[in-house]
Amino acid sequence: MFQGKKILLAVTGSIAAYKAILLVRLLTAKGAEVKVVMTPAAKDFVSPLTLSTLSRNPVVTDLFLGDSWSNHVMLGRWADIMVVAPLSCNTLAKMAAGLCDNMLLASYLSATCPIAAAPAMDEDMWLHPATRANIRRLQEAGVHIIPVENGELASGLSGEGRMAEPEHIVAFLENVFFSKKDLAGKKALVTAGPTYEPIDPVRFIGNHSSGKMGLALAAELAGRGAAVQLVLGPSAIHVNIEDVEVHRVTTAAEMFQSCQEKFRDADIAVMAAAVADYTPAHTASEKIKKTEEHLRLELVKTKDILKSLGERKTKDQILVGFALETQDEKQGALRKLKAKNADIIVLNSLRDEGAGFGFDTNKITIFEKSGEEIAYGRTSKQQSAKDIVDRIVKMLYD
Ligand code: CTP
Repeated sequence: MFQGKKILLAVTGSIAAYKAILLVRLLTAKGAEVKVVMTPAAKDFVSPLTLSTLSRNPVVTDLFLGDSWSNHVMLGRWADIMVVAPLSCNTLAKMAAGLCDNMLLASYLSATCPIAAAPAMDEDMWLHPATRANIRRLQEAGVHIIPVENGELASGLSGEGRMAEPEHIVAFLENVFFSKKDLAGKKALVTAGPTYEPIDPVRFIGNHSSGKMGLALAAELAGRGAAVQLVLGPSAIHVNIEDVEVHRVTTAAEMFQSCQEKFRDADIAVMAAAVADYTPAHTASEKIKKTEEHLRLELVKTKDILKSLGERKTKDQILVGFALETQDEKQGALRKLKAKNADIIVLNSLRDEGAGFGFDTNKITIFEKSGEEIAYGRTSKQQSAKDIVDRIVKMLYD
């Protein structure tokens, strides 16, 4: 995919700049020709010598060399793709405002190629309204924002804002710029995360779902060209993916309602949320006091979203459900396939190590309406999402 592609890597002043070294290596190993442009501040974090040695090209940092002017238009026109990684808060703001006081910004403003950027900053900065507005401005200008990751930050705190790992940046570039857009023009509905069913104003019944599998599916569907509506339960994940419109809901009833409206236009619906099966019959309007020795909660069944969509789906719509089982896994999955009129049921068993809630990995078996059964080995949730979407695409076009 990258063979012979010209990539302009733009490095800004951020602790994450050290990852640019690995990024150059990964891209050149895949056959890309890489040139690097740096901001003056980036030189404090990573040496131009290292980057020029690895890219086998001189690194450009200055608008002026001695008394000569360097041609900033050249780099942006030379590249097939420009990747800003890491994108610091400062350079983000300058790019959003159209400032041009260094070579990197001049290259950005004169680039004629597609541009991707991998932000890197502390969580507070990442979530600040000014940063959010700057990110939106860049997206409006057509810049593809590579989602930030969650984890240890330069400040020593942990949270969102970490630059995507170099492998993930490469995967993003492959997905956005080189992948087959086999779902172009299609619309997809995805549910993800848990639901919270309120008992009183401070308590709820919830579950351990992180929303990661649904998010990976939404990203994969969008990466392959679909316009995605993601109905997301109360999950801590922050979603910032192009072509994914997020609708936050809390309860099973709200998720049901949101899906009913969106399913009408959907070609594909993937129900990856862990929806509560029961909800309190009454929600107390005041906090329940600890007065009685026993407290009885009356629960009533929630509406089954997957089943309701299965009842009204047309022959052109593909409906995918999940089955999370702890025993008699295969029978459970096959029962759900039939009872909910789904086209695909994805089984994960809580008995499999590294599968299910909270993990970054998954181990799935796919059961299809045709009787086909495909078992996959333990892999990342991103890879599981690819495997599931491959089956959807096959079903859609075969
Ligand atoms: N599901 C749903 N609406 C509900 C409950 C579940 O849409 N009210 C969907 C889930 O998103 C999932 C599938 O149904 O895609 C199966 O969920 P699961 O909890 O495994 O099964 P249940 O139908 O709840 O059956 P059981 O509790 O008997 O296993």
